[in-house]
Amino acid sequence: MSDFFKDKVVVVTGGSTGIGRAFVELLLASGAKVATCARSQSNLDELMTSLKHPSLFSVATDVSKQTDCKHFITSVIQHFGGIDIIINNAGISMKGDFKDTEAEVIKKVMDINFMGMVYCTKYALDSIIERKGAIVGISSIAGYRGLPGRSGYSASKFAMNGWLEALRTELLPTGVNVLWASPGFTKSNIRQVAIMDGDKQQGESPLNEDKLMTPEECAGRILNAIEKRKRTLVLTLQGKRTVLINKLFPGLADKLTHKFFYKNGKLIK
Ligand SMILES: NC(=O)c1ccc[n+]([C@@H]2O[C@H](COP(=O)([O-])OP(=O)(O)OC[C@H]3O[C@@H](n4cnc5c(N)ncnc54)[C@H](OP(=O)(O)O)[C@@H]3O)[C@@H](O)[C@H]2O)c1
Repeated sequence: MSDFFKDKVVVVTGGSTGIGRAFVELLLASGAKVATCARSQSNLDELMTSLKHPSLFSVATDVSKQTDCKHFITSVIQHFGGIDIIINNAGISMKGDFKDTEAEVIKKVMDINFMGMVYCTKYALDSIIERKGAIVGISSIAGYRGLPGRSGYSASKFAMNGWLEALRTELLPTGVNVLWASPGFTKSNIRQVAIMDGDKQQGESPLNEDKLMTPEECAGRILNAIEKRKRTLVLTLQGKRTVLINKLFPGLADKLTHKFFYKNGKLIK
């Protein structure tokens, strides 16, 4: 990696596990000053202890709470003096057909995945504009193609993409780059902790996690896109294929997507 990130202050929300943790590790290795957050204080403590890096700062934060986001971002600005880049990565998923899903689950996913990004970006914006930095949203293939059994998750990712596209256009004269990156299936905790049947967690991933893209590869490719000031990034061959088929043949995509996610009328993935 070049020295693009050296001495830049980068905020990564949800940096305690998965793709967020890979961002934190890669950014520290490239000389950035990194601030991260997550809800679990014990997971953040583990991160701080195992990485033991003078350029790493963390604050326990629930991004669905506006006051938490204000406290997190103002603490980062106090600690590092400003913010160059924000990577809005914190997110959760859900699983269940809509007919079996309480509206409250969809609200919870929207509050974390979408409003969490809005709150954190709001408080970081002046500093990012001053430094001509970047705003990044970690979206998903589910932000291009609605996925059955994940209607709330898909809604949150479509919302992210639309909001970031509008923001990108508003910020064109400022020199700030806005990017939404869409990983395909990537090895992480997201499926184990997906909300299912009310407030329960899925527990086990329905996918063979070891066959998926690694979080390090995913984060590395996104950092490369940030450096190149890209507009969008779609990851994995399966992800690119899904986005293309959906754009050209949306009716066929409905059928293929249904076939992938259901067996004998039952949601399997
Ligand atoms: N893995 C994939 O296949 C995949 C594919 C496409 C897109 N993505 C996206 O990539 C991003 C990272 O997901 P991941 O796969 O790395 O999942 P993950 O391993 O479950 O990590 C999620 C991170 O977000 C944090 N988080 C969750 N809710 C939060 C909240 N309310 N406030 C603050 N932090 C919160 C978690 O910590 P706490 O639980 O302690 O809060 C954790 O650090 C998500 O936006 C996800 O939608 C993932």
